[in-house]
Amino acid sequence: MAKMTIRDIEVSGKRVFVRADFNVPLDEKKGTITDDSRIRATLPTINYLIDKGAKVILASHLGRPDGKVVASLRLAPVGQRLAELLGRPVTVLNDCIGPEVEKAVASLANGQVILLENLRFHAEEEAGTPAFAQALAHLADIFVNDAFGTAHRPHASVSGIAAFLTAVAGFLMEKEIEMLGGLLEKPARPFAALLGGAKISDKIGLIENIMGKIDYLLIGGGMAATFLKARSYEVGKSLLEPDRIATVLKLMDGVLRSGAHLLLPEDVVVSDRTDGAGQVKGVPIQSIPPDMRVVDIGPQTVSGFTKAMRQCRTVFWNGPMGIYEVPQFAAGTQAMAKVLAGLKATTVIGGGSTAEAVADRGLAAKMTFVSTGGGASLSFLGGERLPGVEVLLDKKGVAGGY
Ligand code: 3PG
Repeated sequence: MAKMTIRDIEVSGKRVFVRADFNVPLDEKKGTITDDSRIRATLPTINYLIDKGAKVILASHLGRPDGKVVASLRLAPVGQRLAELLGRPVTVLNDCIGPEVEKAVASLANGQVILLENLRFHAEEEAGTPAFAQALAHLADIFVNDAFGTAHRPHASVSGIAAFLTAVAGFLMEKEIEMLGGLLEKPARPFAALLGGAKISDKIGLIENIMGKIDYLLIGGGMAATFLKARSYEVGKSLLEPDRIATVLKLMDGVLRSGAHLLLPEDVVVSDRTDGAGQVKGVPIQSIPPDMRVVDIGPQTVSGFTKAMRQCRTVFWNGPMGIYEVPQFAAGTQAMAKVLAGLKATTVIGGGSTAEAVADRGLAAKMTFVSTGGGASLSFLGGERLPGVEVLLDKKGVAGGY
């Protein structure tokens, strides 16, 4: 990576502010964490800093409390899980700035860890207010950004703080940039992108940016309906983005002109309800009933996608193939997870719901890399500059790169 990391600076005895992305899925009723992957992914950075005798100040957001204190979005469960994983105490504070926090930081010994309270309890975090960034910076000597999942947000603790401190990447940030950057720079070919999810609008930048680098584009999920409509199929009550049809036609044309194969669903699962309680059936794409909507890909599509991916040396997957949270509509997504897990190719999974779908099946360890960033990985692969990476110090002799 072209940015400096914690390996490149002296951290011993220093107060190190680590921006992590502990925005983990919660069981709101029980107040428990349902997937701790994002916490585990930050352990190499935290353990390195502990071993080097740094004073570790961890900070994160959780959910979208919109500048207010929301009891169910306190970071206490994260602190507890982190302490279990580290095998050492983690002090969880009640706020992220102010005299009490400063006092707690001042009493930190080398190798000790504290976790600040949810940054987004202050509206100034998302507003990127410089005074708030400065108050956070005041707690530390060094800023380490390990929050790849939030690197696309220009928030106070993500980019603003770097104006006041030496700013370097943590190991998770480094790995994410290397793995996802590798897809753009030197993917082993043939390279397939398997894309799903509800909306095409989220994926346009990504498709445009990888066009010319991919050999197969496989389209499933709710967004397939807009592709099918663009090809003049009737899609019933499926979620459509009519204002994107022209863009989709242009994208399909671009992909085909680049010499890549474009695979749309051949058959789909349709239902008259999205909660699984209605009528459910499999149909070829030529016969989607007017009163039903596409909720999953069908078995023929699964087999076509599987055949294509088996030709490939690199596969990137982002977006479920249907409404996979509903068991009746999960087969396509589950089948793709299983196929990717069995490939001998480099398999990279975009974060968010795709990462959750893979983790749900216990298949995360079978993938080459599972990104912790949902929106961030799409932005990065879409060629956007990430505010949380831009602000990090360049390695000697390289300017402006990641
Ligand atoms: C994520 O889960 O994608 C990140 O934590 C960013 O969260 P946000 O979309 O609420 O900014």
